[in-house]
Amino acid sequence: MLEHLDRLASDPILGLMAAFRADTDSRKVDLGVGVYRDESGETPIMQAVREAERQVLERQTTKTYVGPAGNAGFNEAMGRLVLGEGHTALSSGRVRVVQGPGGCGALRLGAELIRAAAPDAVAYVSTPTWANHVPLLSGCGLKLERYPYFDAATGGVDFDAMMSALDALPPRSVVLLHGSCHNPTGADLDESQWREVLSLIRRRALLPFIDIAYQGLGRGLAEDAFGPRLLCAELPEALVAVSCSKNFGLYRERVGALISLSQTGAAADAALSQLVRIARGLYSMPPDHGAAIVARILDGELRGLWERELAAMRERILGLRAEAAQALAAACPHRDFSHIVRQKGMFSYLGIDRDAVGRLRDQHHVYMTDDSRINIAGLRHKNIPYFAEAVAKAAG
Ligand code: LMR
Repeated sequence: MLEHLDRLASDPILGLMAAFRADTDSRKVDLGVGVYRDESGETPIMQAVREAERQVLERQTTKTYVGPAGNAGFNEAMGRLVLGEGHTALSSGRVRVVQGPGGCGALRLGAELIRAAAPDAVAYVSTPTWANHVPLLSGCGLKLERYPYFDAATGGVDFDAMMSALDALPPRSVVLLHGSCHNPTGADLDESQWREVLSLIRRRALLPFIDIAYQGLGRGLAEDAFGPRLLCAELPEALVAVSCSKNFGLYRERVGALISLSQTGAAADAALSQLVRIARGLYSMPPDHGAAIVARILDGELRGLWERELAAMRERILGLRAEAAQALAAACPHRDFSHIVRQKGMFSYLGIDRDAVGRLRDQHHVYMTDDSRINIAGLRHKNIPYFAEAVAKAAG
């Protein structure tokens, strides 16, 4: 029976990783997969993570199961990291947090919970959105539609178009929002726009489902969580999927969490019971190692070190943004790349066409996704001139 399976094309992001690894040219530049890199091109293990890991291994006394909801200390700490210490939703007793296998697992848990609550619900995702949102959310049967988001002319958010589309949605529609560091565009809502989104969601009785995978890599830990904090303070219900891949550099440990906010404590308990059942049916229990590391960092003496390391990563990305925009402006004087300095987080769209992206890859060994999304954190001071010249040659 398996002989009838079609061979599928590789994943648009992970396929690039493989192609980059196979390229033997010493000038190659990886702007594909969204991982942070330092000036030597490595994705380092953060010192706080290394030390927390040592402590975890030293103190761990058992390898018995943690349970489908995951590590309780981690879940509690993640609620406070994302929503902020003393957030009203936390003190109201309406929040429940379950650990997921990465932010991806958290997104799928949220989608499954929505399906359990409202099998006919439709979730609306931004145009564009992270490529993996589509299979992750729709894989459980959740219907997906789109709302306009990115304005290619300005490199910012087409807020009017977004708001008029959301204003036309039927009540109980789900709106997937990026908490910050929008993937793939780097174009974020500002604080006043979040306030307008809040009023609209309330007026139209929509359910916000917020994906926050880059907290701390845009403007700061609190600043990047402004949207989720606001919506969870003001609305009766919300879902927030969180990833620890980027801000703790724990990519391969698969650590994330789903925060669910319900109208009452009883409804929150019911949601938790459903999430536990969903997790049990999908993967039974999440892996503990990364969650134990995060819990140790967030609630111990390593927190300050982690925050400083995260701030250094953020500063480096901001510096690379400025440098790349300057180099591109010099190499391609007839094009405008100034949006790169206004955008936030790891990604920006270069705004060049698919053929130029192909030429960059095939002739210049510069890798990015076909939509011209670049991982800014994949640049290095020393390869920015080469990158800018390659863009000038490939995109004209
Ligand atoms: C990305 O967008 O490149 C990252 O989130 C990695 C992934 O899994 O796609």
